[in-house]
Amino acid sequence: MKENNINRVFVVVLDSFGIGSAPDAEAFGDGGSDTLGSIVKSRAFNAPNLSKLGLFAIDGQKEKAPEGTKIEMNAAVARLCELSNGKDTTIGHWEMAGIISEKPLPTYPNGFPDEVIDEFKKATGRGVLCNLPYSGTQALTDFGEEHMRTGDLIVYTSSDSVFQIAAHESLVPPEQLYEYCRIARSILVGDHAVGRVIARPFEGDAPNFTRTSRRHDFSLEPTEDTMLDSLKAEGFDVIGVGKIHDIFAGRGLTDYAYSESNADGMKKTIEIAGRDFRGLCYTNLVDFDSKFGHRRDIDGYAAAISEFDAWLGDFLPQMRDDDVLIITADHGCDPAYTKTTDHTREYVPMIITGKHIAPIDLGTIDGFDTVAATVCALLGSETFYKAPGVAGLVCEGSEPSVAELLTLAEKSRENAYAPYSDFKVGAALLCKSGNIFLGCNVENAAYGGTICAERNAMTTAIAAGEREFTAIAISGGKHDTIEECLPCGTCRQFMAEFSPDGDLLVVTGNAREPYIYPLSALLPYSFSKDSLS
Ligand code: THU
Repeated sequence: MKENNINRVFVVVLDSFGIGSAPDAEAFGDGGSDTLGSIVKSRAFNAPNLSKLGLFAIDGQKEKAPEGTKIEMNAAVARLCELSNGKDTTIGHWEMAGIISEKPLPTYPNGFPDEVIDEFKKATGRGVLCNLPYSGTQALTDFGEEHMRTGDLIVYTSSDSVFQIAAHESLVPPEQLYEYCRIARSILVGDHAVGRVIARPFEGDAPNFTRTSRRHDFSLEPTEDTMLDSLKAEGFDVIGVGKIHDIFAGRGLTDYAYSESNADGMKKTIEIAGRDFRGLCYTNLVDFDSKFGHRRDIDGYAAAISEFDAWLGDFLPQMRDDDVLIITADHGCDPAYTKTTDHTREYVPMIITGKHIAPIDLGTIDGFDTVAATVCALLGSETFYKAPGVAGLVCEGSEPSVAELLTLAEKSRENAYAPYSDFKVGAALLCKSGNIFLGCNVENAAYGGTICAERNAMTTAIAAGEREFTAIAISGGKHDTIEECLPCGTCRQFMAEFSPDGDLLVVTGNAREPYIYPLSALLPYSFSKDSLS
C-alpha cells in the first residue's frame, strides 16, 4: 500500500498559532481575532524560515506579511478550519489526530453541580471547599486555613475544562491526593467528562502556603481511536514531546518526553531526530499559548515565534531525505484580543515540508484531521480517516485519491469567473501520466461564450499533450456553498471523446463525502468516433 519513501514524520504544534478568525468565530465570541495578524505588527517578529516555507502564501495571509517580505512557497501549504465544537487544546489535538468532537468539553463557570460534588464527598469521605472558578494561589490564601482545620479538600476550576483538587501534603500525602483524583476521574464521565483532573499539592504554613512540584494531571482518554493508537498498533514508533502525553492520556505512544519550555521541547525534538526510528514524532510547544497568548503579550508571542523560526533554521538542514515535517496549531489565542483572555476560534496553518514534498498551495481545507489522514498515508499506515488528507497530492511517488482531487477542485474554484450566474465551479483532472490539471468556469457577457470548469481543465491538459485521463473532480455551487455538481451534457460529451470506454471517474460533492460515477453511468450510449465510421 505504501508508495512513497517516507520513514519519519515530525508534527510540530505551535500551540495557539491561529491565522485568522474562523467563519464561525462569532459564535465563539471571537469575531475578528487573528493571532498571526497581531504578532506580525510587533518588532520582535522575525520569521524568515516560516516565510520561505510559505506561511504568507497560505490562503488569506498575503496581506499580513511584514513590509518587504517576499511571498515565497517552498512547502505544501493549507489553511485548516476546525470542525469540532470547541477551541481548546484537547479538542484541537484530538481533531488533528482524527477525532471530531461534536460537543465541547464541559466547563463550570458556577462550580460543579451537587450531583458531582456529593458523589465525590461520599467516595472520598471528605468535605469540599471553594467549588468555583478560582486562581490556584488565591484558593490557598482563601481556603488553606479552613482546609488545615477541617481536612476538607479545596476543589476549584477555571475557564478551562478542569477539576482541580488542592490539599496540604502533611494532611493528604500526594499518593492519597492522586487516589482522590482517580476517584474524581471515575465520577467525571458522560456530560461531566472534563478534560483534566489536576492534583495540586501544597506545603508551608498559613498564610504562606506554596504549591509543590508534585502536581499531576489525569487527562480524559480520547473518546475514539486516534492516529496514535492506529500507528502504534501497526508497529510504528509514536513519540510524544511536551504536553502530547497528557493530551492523549498516554494512549497510543511508544515513548514520550515532557518539556519545560519551548526551547526544551525544540531541543528534545532535535535529539529525537538524531535517533533512528520509523513513525511519528509529535511535539507540542505550549509557551506560545500559556506564556504569551493568554497573558496577551504581543511582543512575547512574536519573540517566541522568532525563536521557533531560528530553531527551524537548525532543524531543516538536519532532516533526512525520508523525513517530513508538518507545522500546525490546535486553535488560536490572539494576544491583541482584549475582549477575553481565552483562546480564539481561528484557522490554523498546515505547512508540510521535506525532500519528497512538492510546494503546492492547497487552499482552505475543512478539518484539522487532514493532518492525521496525511500522516497515516505518508507513513503507509492502513488507517483512513473521514478526511482524505493530502499525502497523495504533495508527496512524490504517491497517487492522489479521488477524494484528494476534490481538495484541488475546491481550490481551483476560487479562480472561477462567474459574475453572471454566481455559480462557481472548479475542476481537477488527473491524467494517466500522474499530472494534474486545473480548471474553472469562465463566463462571458454573451452567455453562450461561457466555458465550463471541466472543459477548461480538459483543454488545458490536452494542450499540454495529455490524452488519457483517470479521474476528474468537480466542485461547484452557488456563492460559497458546495453541492454535488454534475457535469453538463456538453461536458459529458466532451469527456467521452477522451474516455472511449467510459471509465473516466467523475467525482463530485466534497472531499469528505465524495460521489463517484464512471462516465459511462452519466452518459451511456454516447455519440462517439465509432458512430462516424
Ligand atoms: N458549469 C460548469 O462549469 N460545469 C458544469 O458542468 C455545469 C455548469 C458552469 C457554467 C456556468 O458558468 C455556471 O456553471 C452556471 O451554469
